[in-house]
Amino acid sequence: MNDRPAAGVRVDEARLTSLVEQLGRVGAQSSGGIIRPLYSPPWREAQDMVATMMSDAGLSVREDAVGNVFGRLAGDTAGPVLLTGSHIDTVVHGGAYDGALGVLSAIVALEACAAAGGTPRRTVEVVSLCEEESSRFHANYFGTRSILGLVAENEPELLVDPDGVTLAEAARSVGLDPARFSDARRDDIDTFLELHIEQGRTLVDAAIDVGVVDVITGFMWLEVVVDGRTDHAGATAMTNRQDALQAAARMITAVEGVALAEGHPAVATTGVVRVHPGGANIVPGRVEFTIDVRHPELDVLDQMVAAMREQCAAVATDRGVQVDLQVVKKTPPHTLDAGLRAVLQQAADTCGLTWRELPSGAGHDSQTMGTHVKAAMLFVPSVDGRSHSPAEYSTPHDCAQGASVLATAVRLLAWAPPQSDQQ
Ligand code: HGY
Ligand code: MN
Ligand code: MN
Repeated sequence: MNDRPAAGVRVDEARLTSLVEQLGRVGAQSSGGIIRPLYSPPWREAQDMVATMMSDAGLSVREDAVGNVFGRLAGDTAGPVLLTGSHIDTVVHGGAYDGALGVLSAIVALEACAAAGGTPRRTVEVVSLCEEESSRFHANYFGTRSILGLVAENEPELLVDPDGVTLAEAARSVGLDPARFSDARRDDIDTFLELHIEQGRTLVDAAIDVGVVDVITGFMWLEVVVDGRTDHAGATAMTNRQDALQAAARMITAVEGVALAEGHPAVATTGVVRVHPGGANIVPGRVEFTIDVRHPELDVLDQMVAAMREQCAAVATDRGVQVDLQVVKKTPPHTLDAGLRAVLQQAADTCGLTWRELPSGAGHDSQTMGTHVKAAMLFVPSVDGRSHSPAEYSTPHDCAQGASVLATAVRLLAWAPPQSDQQ
């Protein structure tokens, strides 16, 4: 790890740490981790807290129709906005840094840029995006897609959470009006920078200060339903069963086998299994399970899903059950903007920090934002590479170094005179 930033814009480590701790208490669970799904009471509390933090940082704050919160620092030259931030929602029992650190780093970075003097040439905005994790609805980067105008009109009524609440009803419960969702669309942004924790071990194992992401992986989510036959657990011979869970178990193992056969960086995960009717003395008649499958090359991703379909069908035939696989989410891989990546590298050099380019096995708003505007991502190290877990942690020193690189990059892009390769 290098010393603190030499000539770059330095953020206040204690202030960033305090903001992370404050926000990390919103949705915190006594059993560990944070639960802050879209349009839940903790989500509302968190967005209101972030709005106050943005205002305290001297930004002019507004919330858009879908609940994205923006903090604006007006530039003295008319032109497209430089946007920086990340998402406010979490996975179930998630950590305090995934998404949140990108929002809070952007706030302190703008504060430090302003404190360094002068009015920005370009208008810069911080954003706390309403949803990224799809942890309540299959909403699939809903905040970013709303900004880009990529949300279908009927989606808010079609997307339903496990309790049967539609996204539209959930939005109304936190004071938003789905009839106005299309107002969230913006066409005045041309650059997006996202600071995020790495969520893997590359940086921490190599003792590198920050990462500049080159490619964000592509991924698909599938919902699998296995239908067998409920029977008496005691009176039904083993040779006379259509046990949906025994079949599902073999399918889940086969899915893992496809990823192992493809080799790194292919990954496949089953994170949810629901067994019906769910009695100890009932042979399961139905099982629902999820598949999260990822690869940075779209054609390989498609081939892996095809192989999974084949293997699940073969198990179904062998076990005498029915199986149905539905794709509920598909996000292509994305190569981030080379010019912006060069600015992040220049900013890290200016701060006297070590950096390396690396791919992201996690999905991010930047991969969708990047389909319409120039986007780039900066990673800070994750201790032990842990994330999507209460064990998620990044040190105050590493967070402040990353936020200082972000601040330095923002200053290069928005305060310094335009340079053709940077715009
Ligand atoms: O699943 C992901 O990679 C991200 O955390 N949504
Ligand atoms: Mn996440
Ligand atoms: Mn994230």
